[in-house]
Formats: sequence, C-alpha cells, structure tokens
Amino acid sequence: MEIVIKDTYEEMSREAAHEVASLLNMKPNAVLGMATGSTPLAVYRELVRMHREESLDFSQVTTFNLDEYVGLPPNHPQSYHYFMHENFFKHVNIARQNIYIPSGNTRNYRAFCEWYEDRIREAGGIDLQILGIGSDGHIAFNEPTSSLSSRTRLKTLARQTIEDNSRFFANADEVPVYAITMGVGTILDARHLVMVANGLHKAKAIAAAVEGPVTHMITASALQLHPSARVYLDNEAASQLQMREYYDWIAHKRPSAPAY
Ligand code: GLP
Repeated sequence: MEIVIKDTYEEMSREAAHEVASLLNMKPNAVLGMATGSTPLAVYRELVRMHREESLDFSQVTTFNLDEYVGLPPNHPQSYHYFMHENFFKHVNIARQNIYIPSGNTRNYRAFCEWYEDRIREAGGIDLQILGIGSDGHIAFNEPTSSLSSRTRLKTLARQTIEDNSRFFANADEVPVYAITMGVGTILDARHLVMVANGLHKAKAIAAAVEGPVTHMITASALQLHPSARVYLDNEAASQLQMREYYDWIAHKRPSAPAY
C-alpha cells in the first residue's frame, strides 16, 4: 500500500484525479469503479475540469459504481444515481450505456447482484476503483463484520452509517436501512485501488485501515491484501498514523529512487 499525504483536500484530490487521467491516457477504454460520498467530489471536479480544458476523453470508458440505497428511485436527490449524474456523468462525454450503478429498485435483488457481477466480469474487470471510507472503516457499504471475500449483495446498514449519512436527509428515519453494495472481494478484484480520505473525523478509521490488523471489523483494512493500492490523505486524515515519518521519508526520497 502506498500512502500519499498532501497538505490540503484539494491537493490530494488533484493527485488522485491525475492518476485516473494517466490511466485513461494509456487505456482510453478503461473500466473505472466509482464511489459516492462527499470525499470524491473534488476528484470528480478535477476530472471534469480536465475533460473541459484538456480534452480528457471518457467516450470509451465504462464505469461501475460501488453501491446504492435500497428503496430510493434514481431521481431521488439522495440516491447515488442522482449524485453521480449531477456531480460527474452529466459533465463528461461518457456513453450512457456504459454507466452501471447498482439498482435500488428491483424486484429480485439477488438476481440483480449476480447480473451486476457478470457485467463487471464481461467488461474485463475494473481497472481502477475509487474508494472513500466510512467513519467506522467501511468501504462501499461493507459494514463491520462483512466477509472479506463478499460479492455484490444486499446489506443492512449499521446505525453509525445511518447516523453519519442522516446529514443529507431530513432526519435519520428517512435514511434507507438497506443497500446494494459491491463486496470486499469484488473490490479487491480491481487491478488498482485509489482511496481518498480527508478531515479529522476520518483519522481513526484511516489509522486502523492502514496500520491496524486486517480485520472484517474495518473492511478498509482489506486494502492491505491488495498488490496495488494507493491511499490519498490530507494532513488531518493522516494525523493518527504511527508511521507518518516513514511515509514522508519515502516521498522525500522518491526523486532519487532507482528506476523500477
Ligand atoms: C457511504 C458510502 C461510502 C463512502 C462513505 C463516506 O457510506 N457508501 O462509499 O465512502 O459514505 O462518505 P463521505 O465521503 O461523505 O465521508
């Protein structure tokens, strides 16, 4: 796992966006895994800017989103469908038929989840998966005790997550209790993982995920098992890391590292 620490949220987001852009420059038909939440917003803003000002092309890109609330129609302002269209898809030249987001409104959730996994496989797998982290250390909606080999499925949200996400709803009672989410195993199958986290409220979860033991109590700790994962942090989110000095030392020594 590589830890990249920047002074500000904007700076860390720009770096993460540039990583996505360099993949698209090398592989214009890349498959991207998308995340929702407030953290990746600046990554999306930077990608949109690059699309407008530097002709970053999304015409051959396919995307798969991590998760969606059960019971919210796609046009509900708090649905992840709505979030993605408003904050990203409608601003770039992605082909609508190449956008996949788990359905929160289907009659057969189990069949849908299998279909979703099949689509990911058929697309050739995810090249780069963007991830945020919940304050309880979850990725996507893989709440504590989720199997580290889980696949796309229906999950019951933890009370902590409902409380965290209630800031977007009128009150906690309006937050859906269930979600469809890619599993930890689905996420680990992506060829490269890019996690973004900022702010003091994420510091504890980040320290547990990056430096604690691999455990299904902190599903983000599964990133330790991945051969190609990069975690972008601002100073606040990095503030509880014990090995901070080492991460800074690596960054300082990078320019003189041998070609590899
Ligand atoms: C939700 C999403 C996660 C996201 C998390 C944190 O639980 N399912 O994918 O990482 O929220 O969101 P935020 O970035 O707003 O803190």
